[in-house]
Amino acid sequence: MTSPVVIPRAERVAHFEQDVWSIFTPLALECQAVNLGQGFMNFPPPDFVIEAARDAVTRNDCNQYSHPKGRPRLRNALAKSYSPLFNRTLDPETEVVVTAGANEGIFSIFAGYLDQGSEVILMEPFFDQYISNITMNGGVPVYCPIRPAGDSSKDMPASEWKIDIKELESKITPRSKIIVLNTPHNPIGKVFSREELEEIGALAIKHNLLIISDEVYDRLYFDPMKHQRIATLDGLWERTITVGSGGKTFGTTGWRIGWLIGPKALVEPALAAHTRIVFCVNSPLQEAIAVGFEQADERGFFGSQIKAYEHKREKLLNVFRELGLSCTIPEGSYFILVNTDKIQVPEDYKFPDLLWNRPKDFRTCYWLTKEIGVCAIPPTEFYSKPNQVLAENFARFAFCKTDETLDAAAERLLKLKAYIK
Ligand SMILES: Cc1ncc(COP(=O)(O)O)c(C=O)c1O
Repeated sequence: MTSPVVIPRAERVAHFEQDVWSIFTPLALECQAVNLGQGFMNFPPPDFVIEAARDAVTRNDCNQYSHPKGRPRLRNALAKSYSPLFNRTLDPETEVVVTAGANEGIFSIFAGYLDQGSEVILMEPFFDQYISNITMNGGVPVYCPIRPAGDSSKDMPASEWKIDIKELESKITPRSKIIVLNTPHNPIGKVFSREELEEIGALAIKHNLLIISDEVYDRLYFDPMKHQRIATLDGLWERTITVGSGGKTFGTTGWRIGWLIGPKALVEPALAAHTRIVFCVNSPLQEAIAVGFEQADERGFFGSQIKAYEHKREKLLNVFRELGLSCTIPEGSYFILVNTDKIQVPEDYKFPDLLWNRPKDFRTCYWLTKEIGVCAIPPTEFYSKPNQVLAENFARFAFCKTDETLDAAAERLLKLKAYIK
């Protein structure tokens, strides 16, 4: 018998804890729960985008390497679609870079800018991948919470989650290099107002920070809210890289197409890193996303997509209203944070050991998945340890699902009535 080979892991991955997805995705499968946990669509992308992908794989030029910056057709389509939204003519040669999903784009920015010990200011809750993207590149995340300013025991608009700008400024040190903004926000559903963006932008100017504006949900905001872009504010284009996602825009999260938009000098270090990480992004699906942008306006796609999501949001909110559970009403993205404080999980319920060193929301979401049959995600996963208490009475439900799935979830969630105090 050969003995097992033990080769020590690199420090940069050795400290990773078991992440929330590897606990809840298999659990949802095992219990055949309706999965409102992970933010992927369980409906197909639009036909015209699928058709374009089909066509692209039959063309040899689309099956070979692309330019590291991205295929010209996609960069041109992005520049055309985004120029009016940025109030400037974007140069597809120098101001747009196609990445392997937004996530690799963000990783590349960190790789292009962080030195050992450089600090990155994050607002929490945050998209969980930011942390490993920062630490793997030698950086140090520094956290500032967005807090519910209203009464979270009642329904409240996502705009009532606020950042305290003085607290945010207190996190900045001479080692701070980057501040990350996410709007529309996952998981709060907050769309930052112009005033909030101006305040954050003023801090970035005062302390010479690069802004990463993660706008992957930029096509998903709900009436009467309008998405505002920090890069369009005075003096902020020069220091902002805006991040987008074909996955969120066209319901193609598995295609791994994203992009960075910013001034040439700012995107160059990220492009340099991106070229070494993936060299280039898969070619045929870049072509399909290009067609998506080329045809979206004439087909009224973005407007009808918003309407469909508004309908899904209402469907799910109505269930929580019926249950008397208060929610943060999302103004953008596709998540609802539900206040679970009123749910009484039986005290003698047997939880697996691995959940006892996790915050309370892990146990609430486990019980919801296992006993109610609906999987939600514990949002403390999106907080630094000291601030996890801020979220342990919430659960995050994703509504990027078919109406049938949401109806099935609703039916099961009504069983919660027996457990609500
Ligand atoms: C806030 C935020 N940023 C980035 C991403 C990653 O997007 P992509 O799938 O394009 O890498 C996600 C995905 O859930 C997200 O929620």
